[in-house]
Amino acid sequence: MTMVYSPGLDGVVAGETRVSCVDQGRLLYRGYAIQELAEKTNFEEVLHLMLYGELPGEERLQYIMDRLDDFRALPEQVYHVLQHIPATVPMMEVVRTMVSFAGHFDPVEGDDDEAIRQRAIWLTAQVPSIIAARHRLLNGDEPVKPRRGMSHAAQMLYLLFGEEPDDMTADLLDLTLVLYAEHEFNASTFTCRVICSTESDLVSSVAGAIGALKGPLHGGANEAAMRMLLRFKSADEAAKWVVEALERKEKIMGFGHRVYRHGDHRAHILEQKMRKLAHKKGQDHWLAIYDAVRDPVRRLKNIYPNVDYPCGLTYHLMGLPLDLFTPIFVSARVSGWSAHYLEQSRGNRLYRPLSEYIGQAERTVPPLDER
Ligand code: CMC
Repeated sequence: MTMVYSPGLDGVVAGETRVSCVDQGRLLYRGYAIQELAEKTNFEEVLHLMLYGELPGEERLQYIMDRLDDFRALPEQVYHVLQHIPATVPMMEVVRTMVSFAGHFDPVEGDDDEAIRQRAIWLTAQVPSIIAARHRLLNGDEPVKPRRGMSHAAQMLYLLFGEEPDDMTADLLDLTLVLYAEHEFNASTFTCRVICSTESDLVSSVAGAIGALKGPLHGGANEAAMRMLLRFKSADEAAKWVVEALERKEKIMGFGHRVYRHGDHRAHILEQKMRKLAHKKGQDHWLAIYDAVRDPVRRLKNIYPNVDYPCGLTYHLMGLPLDLFTPIFVSARVSGWSAHYLEQSRGNRLYRPLSEYIGQAERTVPPLDER
């Protein structure tokens, strides 16, 4: 066996997949370019594409929407536990815990492919309900009961704020869910597949993946990027800071990507919509700050924004609180993780890489009183 060592598995092919690929800098879900999916489909259609391999027709789309509605209500025990988690616990940790806890009330039986798909739809429906219930309870508000017949994105906003959102806001949230749904062997998906490869269950695999997504080098970057922008009162201040930060060799959140060296297409798609939203809301000063960070990073380091950079500002302009940004990413990526779980569980081979030992040479254990 040839042994290859690549820190961070950079450049290593760790498995085969039919779920998505990055082909010459373009992301495709099951063969469909993300640009086209962003223009022509919504999250529910992408969820069907993830789980069943094909885009749904009208009947199948209605079926997915009905199933999501069937699965949105949280078990009473979830509200109880949510009220006992200390208020200071970050939302991503709450989501990780509650996905695991809700798993004890999994309404789907069996482990065949269709059961796994149903469990994935159930998880996809539960995550926004968990996020919204926690958000409302923390603010002293009663959780809102889901209403049937709304899109997944509109439902999420309705559960959070208790009012039906306007179309522009719901459509923009939906776009981010489509863009966030899947991205081949990223850290959280790989985590999901590693857990699955031990023949563990979907809920455990998703709970592990949430832990991986939380970090600022991965999904946590959308929140971190917006926290960075909020430090600046003007574009000049932002431009000055970013040049100094790059000199200090700091990482700028929302920039760079392991597989895109010339820009993340998703960022480009979202940026255009984000600009329209900022104009509509009379918040153009944010665009000046946004550009003032982006341009020096590109000019000085040849590094481009990834999807999290425009997403952070988009969510902020939509009025979403910062600690919901990465949990919303979870609510979309559950679909991709589940597709990978299904794929990994068929034709599975346990993930078990090697390590290079660089510790102490062999030595003898001294008696306790001599240590
Ligand atoms: N700001 C400044 N310099 C950067 C950045 C950045 N955001 N990203 C990479 N670099 C530099 C890095 O310092 C290094 O420079 P040098 O060769 O001089 O030491 C060089 O580029 C290569 O960086 P790397 O960290 O080895 O590259 P990687 O492929 O391991 O990193 C990354 C990919 C996403 C972890 C990294 O770009 C990063 O930390 N970005 C900031 C966090 C972020 O935005 N994460 C979201 C990732 S994409 C969407 C998602 O998963 O949510």
